[in-house]
Amino acid sequence: MGSVSDEVPEGAITRHLTGGRSAETGTLPSEGVRRMFDRIAPVYDAMNRLMTAGLDQRWRRITVERAVRPGDRVLDACCGTGDLAIAAAGRGGKVTGLDFSERMLDRARAKDPSIEWVRGDVLSLPFPDASFDAVTVGFGVRNVDDLEAGVCELRRVLRPGGLLGILEITRPTGMLAPFYRVWFDNVIPALGRLLPGGAAYTYLPASVRRFPPPAELAALLQRNGFDGVRFERFAGGIVALHVGTAA
Ligand SMILES: C[S@@+](CC[C@H](N)C(=O)[O-])C[C@H]1O[C@@H](n2cnc3c(N)ncnc32)[C@H](O)[C@@H]1O
Repeated sequence: MGSVSDEVPEGAITRHLTGGRSAETGTLPSEGVRRMFDRIAPVYDAMNRLMTAGLDQRWRRITVERAVRPGDRVLDACCGTGDLAIAAAGRGGKVTGLDFSERMLDRARAKDPSIEWVRGDVLSLPFPDASFDAVTVGFGVRNVDDLEAGVCELRRVLRPGGLLGILEITRPTGMLAPFYRVWFDNVIPALGRLLPGGAAYTYLPASVRRFPPPAELAALLQRNGFDGVRFERFAGGIVALHVGTAA
């Protein structure tokens, strides 16, 4: 069973004392995020299916339908255990999956050895400018230490006219909101405490709370090199997909 103090690296706790960064505030430095995903890699897919009642794979399919065209060179950044990259390959993309957690990448490699899996940081992508026709990110940008710098890196590796698709968790404002609060803010962290890397499931709802809502994220993308940014919400607004074109 994990507690915040034994699951979050010492560096993060020090920052917590000095700068307010912790699993509870939903802000961790990159190294803390990487170590957290290394720890939860064995349960990550099962928790995704459980938390979304299996809808997560459908959302990934819609993401690649909107952002990836057959034959595209595709970067799936923050690829984790690889499901979105695999969906992009199924759509006919020539896909590179990138993540900084080696344990998450191990799972991805085991699922599909034919895809190129690269260890790297979104904040410093190991690719030349304009290398890709499409970039996808599934449930990843929320975790990047400097969101604006990460978006600029994603823009840099896209060719002008290339598409960016960002799938991310959001907070519903309508009828689902009370149910969501109980499920996401209470049940998920409680379940997480039973698992290895349990602090991740305290970090998860907290990171969604402090992440920009869809209209703000769209504006941030527009300010950082993307045109025609639009977003759609799924499942009563618990998830949003943003798509924009590299200017
Ligand atoms: C919630 S998982 C999403 C995995 C996958 N995209 C999916 O659809 O399930 C977030 C992933 O982002 C990765 N990540 C977070 N910040 C990163 C960064 N700066 N560079 C590379 N990977 C990062 C984590 O290691 C983790 O595997």
